[in-house]
Amino acid sequence: MCGIVGAIADRDVVPVLIEGLKRLEYRGYDSSGIAVLHDAGQPDIRRVRRTGRVSEMATAAAAEGFDSVLGIGHTRWATHGGVTEANAHPHISDGVALVHNGIIENHEEQREKLRALGYAFESQTDTEVIAHLMHHHLKGGDSLLGALQRTVKELTGAYALAVISRAEPEHFVCARMGCPLLVGLGEGENFVASDVSAIVSSTRRVIFLEEGDTADVRRDGVQVYGHDDAPVQRDVHLSDVSLASLELGPYRHYMQKEIHEQPRALGDTIEAAIDAGGFPAELFGKDAEAVLSGIEGIQILACGTSYYAGLTARYWIESIAGLPCSVEIASEYRYRAAHANPKHLIVTISQSGETLDTMEALKYAKSLGHTHTLSICNVPESAIPRASELVCYTRAGAEIGVASTKAFTTQLAALFQLTVVLGKLHGHVDAAQEADYLEQLRFLPGSVQHALNMEPQIAAWAERFARKSSALFLGRGLHYPIALEGALKLKEITYIHAEAYPAGELKHGPLALVDEDMPVVVIAPNDSLLEKVKSNMQEVRARGGELFVFTDQDSNFNESEGVHVIRTPRHAGVLSPVVHTIPVQLLAYHTALARGTDVDKPRNLAKSVTVE
Ligand code: G6P
Repeated sequence: MCGIVGAIADRDVVPVLIEGLKRLEYRGYDSSGIAVLHDAGQPDIRRVRRTGRVSEMATAAAAEGFDSVLGIGHTRWATHGGVTEANAHPHISDGVALVHNGIIENHEEQREKLRALGYAFESQTDTEVIAHLMHHHLKGGDSLLGALQRTVKELTGAYALAVISRAEPEHFVCARMGCPLLVGLGEGENFVASDVSAIVSSTRRVIFLEEGDTADVRRDGVQVYGHDDAPVQRDVHLSDVSLASLELGPYRHYMQKEIHEQPRALGDTIEAAIDAGGFPAELFGKDAEAVLSGIEGIQILACGTSYYAGLTARYWIESIAGLPCSVEIASEYRYRAAHANPKHLIVTISQSGETLDTMEALKYAKSLGHTHTLSICNVPESAIPRASELVCYTRAGAEIGVASTKAFTTQLAALFQLTVVLGKLHGHVDAAQEADYLEQLRFLPGSVQHALNMEPQIAAWAERFARKSSALFLGRGLHYPIALEGALKLKEITYIHAEAYPAGELKHGPLALVDEDMPVVVIAPNDSLLEKVKSNMQEVRARGGELFVFTDQDSNFNESEGVHVIRTPRHAGVLSPVVHTIPVQLLAYHTALARGTDVDKPRNLAKSVTVE
């Protein structure tokens, strides 16, 4: 987490830095700051930092008349040190200023060393040691680039760094290890950023720095150096992120926009299968057939909402593809003495492609002997797909709201396609079934659109939820992970305590919580488990609990006292979990509106979690 932006140009770069930081706020929004070169005869560095949102810092920068052709900026998600102005970046050590994303693990050791050299520390951050190390090497005679290259070799941990110095006002330098960083190439101006959205108003031509790279960025050119400090050529990519896709448009919040974009996002994600008239293995890359036909099982690794997509996929993979499938939270797997079976495919699921726990779990799986890996990811060229053998990009488009919505449903669509591909290759799906699954997939965007049309009814329920302090979500089978996702959405953006249980587990503990103040949301589609779920609902009613039930158009189920029902469209078969995700997203969104919380930037969270 934390977002970085830097720019050198012939124009004032302060608006570029501010706009970039606003676009990077999804990475953290505890505090922000910029440092710019101020050249009134004698070059110096000016800095402004504020806790709170970028807009507050921008107001302060404007009030102080910031204006410069060279600068760096940062938006922070606090790790080392609380949310204070002193801990906000950039950090300065006598004429050198830097911004950092990541965690320096040996910061205490470095701090002791630097204290012994006479450096005093003003913050509690791990980052300040980098500023002083840079200063120490500059004082020893290094150039700015040389000091950076020497400094990063003394660091253990993860970093993306951008550094300016008043002694070398004609350029800035940057480095990357374990955290994303790209260089943007403009006309007579160049940039650095954590992701392309930050600089897309200025350029879409980018170089993705690789692990261990450093770069020297000047107005008229950029030189990248590899981990051995030798100059290297890196490919220039033309990003397809458009400015329009990052704008809010007519919506109140990005989350609302992203919920409503789901029919389009799903349509894009399934387009290749629809165009192919089936599920060729090539949907997962040209080597996919050889890899996928040889595997004997699946191990899914992911965090947060992406983990719930994995839990849903397990039902599909076991029942449709006939393969064993385990799903594990990445941060647990990476510290477990897992039994590796090299015939099992490691599938990582990550919206951002940079979640540290997922990345480390992937590396750990490889170290255990797994050779076959597949990444399902929404961000092209991000770290996890780059470290994977096979890749499937969901085509949700940029997701900006911290609570994941369209990324989740498109992950489900990708995982369903993977299931059918595996089923075909392993002889569990014949041509007729393949055609049937394709037909179901073809209807999916339309069914999701119908589900979105229920928004007014769900908004009415949300008014009642807004007054509650806890909620239970129940589901069974394929819809248990959707109950989990519903509870997660509600707690993330409304701060209402919510828990999800498989409905059959209610009687083994959580039923003790049920009373008239505890709303119980039930995902109860018209599938083979509906009768079982109905019995579980009776257990709730008998204890005075109020039920809010999402069911299908065609299920034999009616409202009664204490039982409120909203019907999604016709039962969507095996893809029903995708359709049933929409109402729980809308319930969380409208409850958050009613409670007046910050929907897109919930407290304490960040979208992209690049720390442990
Ligand atoms: C954060 C986000 C969640 C997301 C999780 C995993 O916690 O707030 O919305 O599900 O990270 O992120 P990933 O990018 O790996 O899917």
